[in-house]
Amino acid sequence: MASGRLLRVLVGGVVGLAAAAGIAWFQLDHAGLLDTEAPGTVTAAPIGGPFRLTAHDGRTVTDEDFRGEFLLVYFGFTYCPDVCPTSLYTISQALDRLGPAAERVRPLFITIDPERDTPELMANYVALFHERMIGLTGSREDINAVAKAYRAYHAKVPGEDGGPYLMDHSTFTYLMGPDGKFLTVFSHGIEIETLAEQLRRYLPQT
Ligand code: NI
Repeated sequence: MASGRLLRVLVGGVVGLAAAAGIAWFQLDHAGLLDTEAPGTVTAAPIGGPFRLTAHDGRTVTDEDFRGEFLLVYFGFTYCPDVCPTSLYTISQALDRLGPAAERVRPLFITIDPERDTPELMANYVALFHERMIGLTGSREDINAVAKAYRAYHAKVPGEDGGPYLMDHSTFTYLMGPDGKFLTVFSHGIEIETLAEQLRRYLPQT
């Protein structure tokens, strides 16, 4: 795809992230999400990287276990009241519209709340959405590392009236290629059919 278009998608996503998270541009810049090398130009730093996490069936998995598959990577938490379920539902429905091509795509739901999201909880949760979806959890350190590699924002938010805490988090869906490299990112709120169309463009016509 045209790099100009990819850049617009990324920048648009960044704007959404900044608004949703309530953090300033300079913080994003500081975090390395934006790399302003020259006035008027914005380049995106590489997104993604190696990880070693625990799948919802208890297996230890790494990024290399998914080579050969397109990945749809989403960061969230199972206690999320509406954003995560909406995003995961959209991903699942889009996959169903791809038909057999969906077998080339692996949706990964990575929790940014590993203190509560045990493998068992993740197993029950991803089963609500799609049979191909894998839930990943891990130590707080490992989760922080993978979230950082994907530039995924997350922060604990106290619950109201002493209720359970929530997690504020960015809501991107990242598409990674079979070689593990970043391809593009989709914003929260994308229509199911639009996501399916976008995925068809990336999937080989075989
Ligand atoms: Ni959420």
